[in-house]
Amino acid sequence: MRKWLLGGLGLLLLLCGGGVAAVTWLVTGGLSVNTVGKVAFDRPLKVPPLAPSVVDADGRRVFDLTAQPGDSDLGHGAGTRTWGYNGAYLGPTLRAQRGERVAVNVHNRLNEPTTVHWHGMHLPAKVDGGPHHPIPPGGDYQAAWTVDQPAATLWYHPHPGERTERQVYRGLAGLFLIDETEDKTGLPHDYGVDDIPVVVQDKGFSGGQLSMDDRFLSDLGVLGDEILVNGTPGPYLDVRTGLVRLRLLNASTARVYDFTMSDGRPFAMIASDGGLLAAPYTTRRVRLSVGERAEIVVAMRPGERVELRSARTGLGVVHGGKDAFDVLQLRAAGELREGALPARLATLTKLDPQRAAQRRTFTFQGRGINGDQMDMRRVDAVVVKDTVEIWNVANGHDTPHSFHIHDVQFQVLTVDGNAPPPELSGWKDTLFLEPRRRYAVIAEFADYADPTTAYMFHCHVLRHEDEGMMGQFVVVEPGDTPRLSHN
Ligand code: C2O
Ligand code: CU
Repeated sequence: MRKWLLGGLGLLLLLCGGGVAAVTWLVTGGLSVNTVGKVAFDRPLKVPPLAPSVVDADGRRVFDLTAQPGDSDLGHGAGTRTWGYNGAYLGPTLRAQRGERVAVNVHNRLNEPTTVHWHGMHLPAKVDGGPHHPIPPGGDYQAAWTVDQPAATLWYHPHPGERTERQVYRGLAGLFLIDETEDKTGLPHDYGVDDIPVVVQDKGFSGGQLSMDDRFLSDLGVLGDEILVNGTPGPYLDVRTGLVRLRLLNASTARVYDFTMSDGRPFAMIASDGGLLAAPYTTRRVRLSVGERAEIVVAMRPGERVELRSARTGLGVVHGGKDAFDVLQLRAAGELREGALPARLATLTKLDPQRAAQRRTFTFQGRGINGDQMDMRRVDAVVVKDTVEIWNVANGHDTPHSFHIHDVQFQVLTVDGNAPPPELSGWKDTLFLEPRRRYAVIAEFADYADPTTAYMFHCHVLRHEDEGMMGQFVVVEPGDTPRLSHN
């Protein structure tokens, strides 16, 4: 409908040159979605199960993930055809401790190729799950590595060539939580009780099925008009503690959210993509573009109800910027177990720009990066192992993008030349690129070199990624050069 109405809008502009009033009416009234106050909140929030694991003879923690089709009730009857891992929709939450060796056996029981990428994970390129190593239908694959990074809310999702948007949209995604060996923060940490995964996705339906048709299509891909949290439509959560920790993941394919509480109350943001902030940051709003995570702690009073919402983002109406949604209702019990938020959370060591061995510039524009589209034979950046680099990333036009680098967590140095705001002060692997803004990020490409296998960097708006807004980098030992093995 968006595409169609916009075509109409252009025509209208042409026809009546000075039709500004009519256009404004259309823009504010005709195209936007607003579900605030209209969501029933009549289903308990589903919490993805923790994935079972076994420790094998080598001491590795081993998980199994099977990508499979199924039927789900997403609010349009029980017969919505979906995909999931080990179930009909989404996947279980993998959990491992820092320092642990893990192995994940992935089984593809779909009728098309897929891969599983461990978003935010620092790991060898060979097991990164990019488009170079598709798992064929019926095929199996093992990824094994040592988890070695701070506690964080990471996630996993398919990353095959040109099919990522539809595979994620169908339901393939899950969380991967990393814990410190010893958690000294005192933060809420009881999974499903006071530590709650909140996987937010927008969907469009047609005839009871998930739809990607023209009605929902925009310049960013699909923008749905309904919200699911952990696959639950209209969800509520019974809260039994005075402090509840929400691990927010934007697992949508295109949409940007501006999360607020319905009564405008402040909450504490405690973590960004790659781990805890140095200290809680009190705010009333947290914005997440596709692929980004934030952990927040909300304080509740006995007996009250308050909703997590997504407010208008201020982006253009064609980018869903005028849409507003009710997301999740929190229902506090009559008596709450009290807790306290720590004043300090983590020690963040700032990467020193003086150490940068290399500076690069990547401009996102059209469907390319520096004018190039993804080419699996081309290496866009050769990075020397254990060096620090500064990447200047610019959004060169009016379409919002979401910038993601594989393998590393980065720090934001500047936004349009200024120091970053508090929500961008911690570890990031995905960064919202606002239209026409410039960002500088710094990262250390430690530990893993492999001249034969590339990592990706790309726009995480999945349609943009599928359409080629992606590049490759290869990490090599000093003096070495790439020799891609799949070519
Ligand atoms: Cu979340 Cu390259 O992906
Ligand atoms: Cu993009």
